[in-house]
Amino acid sequence: MQHSLEDITMVFVRPMEYRVLIDNFKIIHGDCMNIIGNFPDKSFNAIFADPPYFLSNGGISVHSGKAVCVDKGEWDKGGTPEHIYLFNRQWLSLCREKLTDNGSIWISGTYHNIFSVANCLTELGYKILNVITWQKSDPPPNLSCRYFNFSTEYIIWARKSAKVPHVFNYEVMKQMNGEKQMTDVWKIPAVGSWEKHCGKHPTQKPLRLLYRIILACTNEGDTILDPFAGSCTTGIAASLLGRNFVGIEQEQEFVELGKRRKQEIDDPISAQKILKKMRENPEEVMVLVNHARKELREKMIANGICYMRAGESKGSLQVAPGFERMKYLLLHTNGDNPQLYQLKTPGKFKIWAKETLEEHGFAPEHAKYYVVLEFLNKPVEFKKTPQLKQRGNTYKARIIPLSELVDLR
Ligand SMILES: C[S@@+](CC[C@H](N)C(=O)[O-])C[C@H]1O[C@@H](n2cnc3c(N)ncnc32)[C@H](O)[C@@H]1O
Repeated sequence: MQHSLEDITMVFVRPMEYRVLIDNFKIIHGDCMNIIGNFPDKSFNAIFADPPYFLSNGGISVHSGKAVCVDKGEWDKGGTPEHIYLFNRQWLSLCREKLTDNGSIWISGTYHNIFSVANCLTELGYKILNVITWQKSDPPPNLSCRYFNFSTEYIIWARKSAKVPHVFNYEVMKQMNGEKQMTDVWKIPAVGSWEKHCGKHPTQKPLRLLYRIILACTNEGDTILDPFAGSCTTGIAASLLGRNFVGIEQEQEFVELGKRRKQEIDDPISAQKILKKMRENPEEVMVLVNHARKELREKMIANGICYMRAGESKGSLQVAPGFERMKYLLLHTNGDNPQLYQLKTPGKFKIWAKETLEEHGFAPEHAKYYVVLEFLNKPVEFKKTPQLKQRGNTYKARIIPLSELVDLR
């Protein structure tokens, strides 16, 4: 049985200030160890947890170009290995009952806590599915020069039970990755300043990371729990993707920060800006969108060849940043009947003379030279058909991020 968000958070109605209520987004202020057990069993389709890593132990790191002592807050101060183990075991044990049978959990960490988390997961009957390596594209330098530079964090993905299959939106992940199976190494930049308009959290996770996680393992309308919510990055990604969110956070200042972040995306203009920022991911797969008359388009598909004039005129292609990440071609006829194809060699094009196109059965009329892209002529299926007419001038060829075009939800 699927619980409503009201059922799930019902236990927290009194006192009212105990929870922050904003439609499908709820933050509960308190210690998750006392709260998780109160939710009805099987309330959540997925859990993302970014627990204390216990790394605030007086080490040195670099922040804004200066050497600083690692101190994320009291909640992150180290304990003995036994303390770390008992802590992880307690919250992971509470969480397991609250997952739906096909639900899954993601836990982030570094070597300080992640091995303890993995042991607890196995002991408690979870089944580990993957260990994602999040490779930060812009890590701060290592000052001691006695180690390799730390540039990764790990995210363990596990399902509730060995027996019941979990939700995995495999095709969506593959599409995001240019039709290649997505690997367990994710190159994503650390949190940008655009993610901190509402205030700062010392260990905020990048929105792109949570966006991908939520897309991978949930569907629209599902409910996600984050027991260590911090600034509610999980909740922001969940809301942008049409999922429900319940977060628990023990520090009042971070509850307020989460609330402000949610209010920010409730403004459609800000939400659009944030989504656009996410699409500026330097790893994002790009698509060439190109109009072709019906007969020409059929010929292009039959030959697996798409061509257009280079230069400034209508219908021509201007090579724009992101060209090298272009993995798809979208052919349409004045915005109608869009079809998506994979390029044979991503990010590569040829320049052909008019005569070469003629040798392939085409009859180009407007220029001496053309930009030519070769593609695999088996179309890639859409989850939802893109509405190209909403985008204005449909004749102009353009290179845009895949996520701007294809609704991955
Ligand atoms: C690593 S941070 C999470 C950051 C979050 N992922 C984000 O993007 O902002 C961990 C958070 O858990 C909170 N916390 C630590 N122990 C907690 C507990 N027992 N119950 C609830 N919150 C806790 C801390 O105050 C901190 O904000």
